[in-house]
Amino acid sequence: MPLYLNVYALPKFADPDALAGGTAVVIDVLRASTAIIYALQAGAKTVIPCGEIEEALRIAAGFSPDEKILGGERGGLPIEGFDLGNSPEEYTPERVRGKTVVFTTTNGTRALLHVTRARQIVLGAFVNATAVVQHIFGQEEVHLLCAGTDGQPTDEDSMLAGMLAEKLQRRGGGQYKLNDQAIAACELWRHTLEIIQAPTTEPPEPEPLAKILRHSLGGKNLVSLGLDRDILAAARIDRFAIVPKFDPETSCVQVVK
Ligand code: MLT
Repeated sequence: MPLYLNVYALPKFADPDALAGGTAVVIDVLRASTAIIYALQAGAKTVIPCGEIEEALRIAAGFSPDEKILGGERGGLPIEGFDLGNSPEEYTPERVRGKTVVFTTTNGTRALLHVTRARQIVLGAFVNATAVVQHIFGQEEVHLLCAGTDGQPTDEDSMLAGMLAEKLQRRGGGQYKLNDQAIAACELWRHTLEIIQAPTTEPPEPEPLAKILRHSLGGKNLVSLGLDRDILAAARIDRFAIVPKFDPETSCVQVVK
């Protein structure tokens, strides 16, 4: 029996009903899925994704001040009155350990809320790529859903989708049936690897993937905001081995045990 592997370059390309019964991997490399992974790795108890600022404020009001952190962005910048923005490295153990992070971003948290009918929902980024592959390998129906940027597909998400699809396909001996967007994402990732691995006379990059991410739509936004350090944080392939899982019934994202 074939295994199905679908990539969606934007949430709107995925019919929420068609995801029911499958495993969804929500991808927002720059920066929501990366920031959530950093927060959980730093010991946050849980992350509650919210579509809107007002909802985040209302949910946060139900916690005592030392139990919660309000985080997220609009237009890439921290939200007025919130504790933290969307920079992954802001989520340090000192700030978030044991706390609930109430979190809202422009595209990433909304992408998570788009896939609530899937049987299982996990978050993927370059920083936990191999852990995600290990976790989802063998699932009959896998949907890699890219958040995109303001309604536009963005290369950083498609690259990660391609990397995950390639790893799954290699591990499964080619048994996955890919949709057209998955085939395109694999090609993009192979092309990306060729660029990263090509000999160069330029000074070495601490994170070779970062030089590609800077030219993607999300990357250009961050460069224009002076947030290059966030691109470096997102480009650290397999830095962590955790897989965050979103449970729509509790509205919580927590690490898979
Ligand atoms: C989002 O969810 O829209 C983002 O992650 C954008 C950002 O980090 O600036």
